[in-house]
Parts: sequence; structure tokens; C-alpha cells
Amino acid sequence: MQNLEQLQLLIEQELGKIAYPKTPQKLYQPIEYVMSLGGKRMRPMLLLMAHQLFDKNIEKAIPPALGIEIFHNFTLLHDDIMDNAPIRRGKKTVHEKWNNNVAILSGDVMMIQTYQLMCNVDKDVLKEILDVFNKAAIQVCEGQQWDMDFETQSDVSLSDYMKMIENKTAVLLAASLQIGGITAVASKENQNNLYHFGLNMGIAFQLKDDLLDAFGNPDEFGKKIGGDIIANKKTYLYLKALALSNPHQHADLVGYFSTTEVTEDKVEVVKSIFLALDIHNITSELMKEYHAKAMQHLDAINSRNKEPLLEFSAMLLDRVS
Ligand code: IPE
Ligand code: IPE
Ligand code: MG
Ligand code: MG
Ligand code: MG
Repeated sequence: MQNLEQLQLLIEQELGKIAYPKTPQKLYQPIEYVMSLGGKRMRPMLLLMAHQLFDKNIEKAIPPALGIEIFHNFTLLHDDIMDNAPIRRGKKTVHEKWNNNVAILSGDVMMIQTYQLMCNVDKDVLKEILDVFNKAAIQVCEGQQWDMDFETQSDVSLSDYMKMIENKTAVLLAASLQIGGITAVASKENQNNLYHFGLNMGIAFQLKDDLLDAFGNPDEFGKKIGGDIIANKKTYLYLKALALSNPHQHADLVGYFSTTEVTEDKVEVVKSIFLALDIHNITSELMKEYHAKAMQHLDAINSRNKEPLLEFSAMLLDRVS
């Protein structure tokens, strides 16, 4: 069994082996750029760890693990255009460094490359893997569309938000884990627990992402702090604050979030309302609840090799980036 460090190293080495053509430069350079900026490599880590719960030889799981990481990076290129985000992993986003068209087309190649890698699995599990992946990939798009719709929608409910983050973020973690189970020929029951472990972890993960977007340290987080507030994102923080606010705070929140005009004090005022209402701690509590649900599904899996997954999920809960 490989530990977290060994798996991380293996993923970096394998990603490093992927050679991109030299031309057209503006098609391939952005891919090399974004892939070289690192990131947590969480999805391939989860996929490989799920595989080694049932099969110590992780060779077969490497191509889909790389595929899922490239898919994730593709979604980031397009997400950063949609969110108008200037910074990713502490560096300029692709659409800022080049332009939107470049980020769209490089992203397209990455999605196709994902399929090239996904197809590189044993023939008898190919269909099963593609079914799981395709379903998740479409759900990610659905979540992304809701995320954008909600920017201009004033009646978003907490359950709308939960559904949105489940789709845009959690299902890909869930699918990564299930695919790792499939490459290792795990039982349907174990696959199901892997999926729901990932789904609940993913919800906790996105709650933390929303929290860090407002309260993270810019040097560690690697993204522009306050980006969600500027973009009028209906995050858990916002929706919970709205529900708990007094009339004055309520008017401020609604007022700031009903215009795309960015006033200098918007981020500070909104954050101060979040703090006054203890939103930081309330969000952390909800994260812990989803983490605990995730752990129940991990507990139900029959394997002796759960240590790396346990360690990794604890790290995700405490992450700063
Ligand atoms: C960012 O994902 C997008 C979200 C789902 C919040 P990660 O936080 O996994 O990004 P990297 O790959 O580590 O940079
Ligand atoms: C991104 O959610 C989800 C996907 C990329 C599919 P966010 O928009 O919150 O992710 P970040 O904060 O830009 O990484
Ligand atoms: Mg987004
Ligand atoms: Mg974004
Ligand atoms: Mg975010």
C-alpha cells in the first residue's frame, strides 16, 4: 500500500510524463501552464486510494486518475472565465494571461484528453467507468449553470444551494472514488459507499471553499479573496447570513448583492456582517456534519487499507488552500 506522499509523488511524476505538442503554442502552452501550477491533486489521490482499498497494485488506475485531474483542470479554465477570476493557485488565470478564447479551446482539448486517458482501462470495466464519469461530468455542468443562475436570483433557498454544490463539486469527488473502486473490481456495495463517502466529503469540501473564499489567507488560498462576494454568489455563508440577519443587515446584504457594481467597501461590509452573525463557526459546524456522514460510509467499507483515506479527509477539513 502506498502512503499519501508516495501517491502524490506518483501523480506528479505521471502528469509530468505527458508531452504536449509544441504548436499551436496558444493551444498547448496554457495546458502545460495550468497543469504545472500544482494544486492538491485531490481527485486522482482519491481515485488511487479507493483502488488500493481492494487491490494493492494501482497501475491500472493510473490512466483514469490522470484523466480525472485533467478534467478538473479543464473545468477550472472555464470556471475562471465564468467567475471572472484573476488568480488561480497564486498565478494569473489562463484567460487573464492569454484570453477567453484561448482558455475555452485549451479547455476543450483537455476534455478530449480526459477521454483518451479514461479509455485506457481494462475493456471489461470501460463501459462502467465511462457511465459513472459521463453522468458526473454532465452534473458538473448542471451545477455550474445553477451557480451562475443564482448570481442574479434573489430567492435562492438553502436546499437550492446544497443541490448546486453537490452537482458542481461533490459528484466529481464521488465519481473519482467510485472509478477507483471499479478499476479494482470492488463490489457494488463497496462502490456505493465509496460514492457516498465522496459525495459527503465533497459537500464539506465546497463549504470550506466558500468559507476560504471570504476568510482565507490570500497567500495560502491562491485565489482572490472576496471573489464570491464580488460576483454575488449565493453561498451558504450568504444564505445563512440572510436568514439570521436583523433588518438593517438584511437590507445591506440584499442591497450589495443586487448590483454587479463593485463598491470599495462591499467585501468588507459583507464580511463584517458574516462575522457579526458567527457565520464562520456555523459553516464549520455544517462541514463537520457532512464530514461525519462521509466517515459513516468509509466505516461501512470492508478493507484494511483505509488509513490514507482517513488521513486525507482529515487534511481536507483543515486545509488552508
Ligand atoms: C477548486 O478545486 C474547485 C472547487 C471545486 C472548489 P480544488 O480546490 O481541488 O483545486 P486545486 O486543484 O487544488 O487547485
Ligand atoms: C467550482 O466552484 C466548481 C468547478 C470548477 C466545477 P468555484 O467557482 O467555487 O471554484 P473556485 O473557487 O473558483 O476554485
Ligand atoms: Mg464557479
Ligand atoms: Mg470559480
Ligand atoms: Mg470557490
